Amino acid sequence: MIRLENINKTYPGNAQHAINSLSMTINDGEFCTFVGPSGCGKTTTLRMINRLDIPDSGEVYIQGQALSSADIIQVRRKIGFVMQSPALFPHRSVAENIATVPRLLGWDKKTIARRIDELVALMSLDPLVLKRYPHQLSGGQQSRVSIARALAADPPVLLMDEPFAAIDPVVREKLQSELLQLQARLHKTIILVTHDINEAIRLGDRIAIFQEGGRLAQFDTPDNILSFPASDFVRDFIGPEPNLKRLGMMRVGDLPRHDVPLLALDGQSLAGGHPLLGQQRALVLDANNRPLHWLEKGQQTPVHFADEHQSLRNVYSELLNVPQGVLVRITPEGSYAGAIDSSLLSNALNRHQELHRDD
Ligand SMILES: Nc1ncnc2c1ncn2[C@@H]1O[C@H](COP(=O)(O)OP(=O)(O)O)[C@@H](O)[C@H]1O
Ligand SMILES: [Mg+2]
Repeated sequence: MIRLENINKTYPGNAQHAINSLSMTINDGEFCTFVGPSGCGKTTTLRMINRLDIPDSGEVYIQGQALSSADIIQVRRKIGFVMQSPALFPHRSVAENIATVPRLLGWDKKTIARRIDELVALMSLDPLVLKRYPHQLSGGQQSRVSIARALAADPPVLLMDEPFAAIDPVVREKLQSELLQLQARLHKTIILVTHDINEAIRLGDRIAIFQEGGRLAQFDTPDNILSFPASDFVRDFIGPEPNLKRLGMMRVGDLPRHDVPLLALDGQSLAGGHPLLGQQRALVLDANNRPLHWLEKGQQTPVHFADEHQSLRNVYSELLNVPQGVLVRITPEGSYAGAIDSSLLSNALNRHQELHRDD
């Protein structure tokens, strides 16, 4: 657990606080994102946690230990740090960069070599890059190497300062989803700084939104922040169409199942549910439960599908293209698994808000 207690920091000559009365707790295994406009204290906060910077007042605790009285070398061993670019040592090869902390810790050569191999596989790096130097890598590869280096000694905490800021959108998206997959396996305590609200929403279990003067504007789950912005500043910062952003975080698999009337190929009625959009239509299934077509007043119409991992934002956009306004959910094997229309999407948005009100 990382706990910040009433941290204040003002740099000499600056009128504004870099950090102003900041208190927050980040739980073990949590992926937390810090987001906010430039100069609002995100990097300074990260540096406080790594003791690269010292608060004027207040205390940082890691696993219950106050940093002001801790052995800083010991503390830093528990923390992997990915700095704002350019962060790799330019005159060291990729392998040497990754081996930085293990070498400091005095690991033997064999153990280091084995760990490098593991990290290369973990970060989907081509082993051929190990001999190269940072300037010979693409932006995406540099990011992967920076993260590999931070993970080298398997620290429980990972701090990352805008690790994907300088990367083109396509590669950034890929690295984001890889980082999520990595976190699902490694369960690190992660703080990732970004200025991109969409990145913060996509990656964070919770988001800390900072505002000018080093103040914490809101610290909550993405869904709660989008549903209940704490101030006008937060509302402006999260931008337009918060409901579309919320749909972007939910998957088809999160929706309760809704069944429609079903028919077998021979026209026999199967156990089904209620029609969507009040239409008198039935879905015809083959012998393996695979949807074939809709049947309405003797007319066949095509079926449009949604799979369980598809985001509801994507579903919403598909629904606009489908004349009947209904998508059929299918399992990875292609079997019928219910149906979706826009009313189910509104229900999903409202259901989340009601859950929050009950807290
Ligand atoms: N070493 C420093 N000396 C003086 N001012 C600094 C220093 N580091 C940061 N600041 C100031 O502190 C504020 C917060 O900076 P920073 O934490 O880097 O913001 P962010 O990462 O959110 O962009 C800014 O006004 C910045 O100019
Ligand atoms: Mg910064």
